[in-house]
Amino acid sequence: MFSTIKIKQLKFFNFLTTKKTINSFLLNFFGLQIFRYLLSKFIYFLLGFFYSEKKMQKYYKNGYLMIDKFLSEEKFLKIKEEFNNIIEKEKKGRNTYAQNYLEKNSSINYILFEFEDNNENKILYPELYSLYKDKKIYNFFQSAERKKKVMLYMRLERVITNDQLKNDANSHWHVDTFHNTHKAWVYLTDVKKKNGPFNYLKGSNRLSIRRLIWEYYNSIKNSIDKDFTAFFTDKNLSKKLEENKIEFDCEKNSFLIANTHGFHRRGDAITGQIRDSVSFYTRENPYKFF
Ligand SMILES: [Fe+2]
Repeated sequence: MFSTIKIKQLKFFNFLTTKKTINSFLLNFFGLQIFRYLLSKFIYFLLGFFYSEKKMQKYYKNGYLMIDKFLSEEKFLKIKEEFNNIIEKEKKGRNTYAQNYLEKNSSINYILFEFEDNNENKILYPELYSLYKDKKIYNFFQSAERKKKVMLYMRLERVITNDQLKNDANSHWHVDTFHNTHKAWVYLTDVKKKNGPFNYLKGSNRLSIRRLIWEYYNSIKNSIDKDFTAFFTDKNLSKKLEENKIEFDCEKNSFLIANTHGFHRRGDAITGQIRDSVSFYTRENPYKFF
């Protein structure tokens, strides 16, 4: 009896977690997702009184920030070398010391390596490990989250374009979740139109009535339609929205941080093109104050 009540309570408090939507038609009908969205925005606003950086004002407003020539030339080359070593092992399926994935579909081949904070990685890949512990990067995420302590994750990503069907999910406009959440990349290859630059809708990270309605729609549809993928939309945008589209074509060794609560997509690339990056991300609970 006690455990049943406990489980029910846990389910009820799911709405104060990072769970993208709550699977209850009735609660969503009465506006639970709207409440979650607004509360997360309000707490983020309050946190701004304690933790708001001047250098990040543009980031808070636009949802992205880019810096070129981010690492020293020497450090960049060492990181690229360690990155290639790991990816080559991944491809041959010989990487056994950490979680690894090889995701395939017809349009892209996505080699992804979660770089964990452990002694083995520290010894085998000292440059990548020091990038993971880089204070400047950590500081960007503290300011983005408006929190002193954040849990930062790092992964290595190689995206190879297989064909022109452009059918991988992330090439559709989408948002990662209903609250502010952040992702950054250090690009190891040039990112031009041909290898699929990151696309972002400037300012779509900010509170809006349009988004509020969309959150409501997503929550309702998600609770009645099992095949529905919440938070994803079309490849094309209305002409008006298209005006706010930023395509981040940049040189290698550029650093980009974006609030992926805003609308974004992976740009379409030409067959055979490769895009390498070291990416960083957080998924902090928006209701946690400090
Ligand atoms: Fe995304």
